[in-house]
Amino acid sequence: MKCKKCGSKAVVNMRQHKLALCKEDYLEWVPEQAERFIKKYRMFSHADKILVAVSGGKDSLSLWEILVRLGYQADGLYIGLGIDGGFGYSSESHRLAARFAEERGLTLHIVDVEAEYGESIPVISEISQRGRGKPCAVCGLTKRHVMNRIARDRGYDVLATGHNLDDEAAVLFGNTLRWSGEFLRRQGPVLAEMPGMARKVKPLCRFYEREMTAYALLRGIEYIYEECPFAEGSTSIYYKEVLNKLENNRPGAKLTFYLSFLEARERGLFTEAGEVRQELHPCTNCGQPTTAPGLCSFCRMIDKVHGEIEIP
Ligand code: AMP
Ligand code: FES
Ligand code: ZN
Repeated sequence: MKCKKCGSKAVVNMRQHKLALCKEDYLEWVPEQAERFIKKYRMFSHADKILVAVSGGKDSLSLWEILVRLGYQADGLYIGLGIDGGFGYSSESHRLAARFAEERGLTLHIVDVEAEYGESIPVISEISQRGRGKPCAVCGLTKRHVMNRIARDRGYDVLATGHNLDDEAAVLFGNTLRWSGEFLRRQGPVLAEMPGMARKVKPLCRFYEREMTAYALLRGIEYIYEECPFAEGSTSIYYKEVLNKLENNRPGAKLTFYLSFLEARERGLFTEAGEVRQELHPCTNCGQPTTAPGLCSFCRMIDKVHGEIEIP
């Protein structure tokens, strides 16, 4: 197979785009595409201060690398979750994120959940009894809280995460199976800012997971290969498998599913979903927006774990 741009040997074949590229052209193509999506969805400009949430995985580290390469002002945030899984999942991801930043002279904020909130994610999950034996719900709630807090307190304009097309298509699949209007309305490459919350963007939302793996490998980015040990058997992994089966027979199906959804939403398909928009208030403890009167879900959870405490 030959590279469509220069005719030399192609190393990445993207059936979904009917495009094969050599290493050099692929490493140029990915940041070019990312720039196109950033502009198309009006995610941010070169004047904005961006906080990239980095997990130590291929997507978020590649995203950070791409943004810096494109000349954006991007700092990182790593959240230490205290997950071990028998192979030091969190400590290894921390090491890789810190090393990535150090080698490139970039700023990385580090928030260790146990140090700041008294317990690790698995322990908070056990005490608060949320999520039926799996800490993923507690983990998601905590990550969102910490990301919002650091973005707001450190004056960032935008918070960027490394969600790729496979992640977004799996979430969309779940939301569609339940026809959850509220979630369908909010899902997309950009979530507008609200009082107490920075704008959230997903610049990699149109890249297939395997495109990001190829980018990280070809660029020589060292990342953690293992998934979170709690992800095994999750619904989102099952949805990804189902969508991959579809994609194998119909190259491009995943991208079409996601892009058609975005177009339908643009045309207003989900604006009249018939659900009452819930009012948001600032949490009385942390100030982040919440639908509940008084404390937000995160503060209520930590309150349950510790009793009366002050939560940053
Ligand atoms: P996940 O929810 O694990 O699929 O991760 C989705 C995105 O959330 C990643 O691409 C990162 O941008 C961000 N993220 C996940 N885990 C962490 C973490 N421990 N620290 C900072 N950001 C994270
Ligand atoms: Fe949070 Fe797995 S439970 S990353
Ligand atoms: Zn709160």
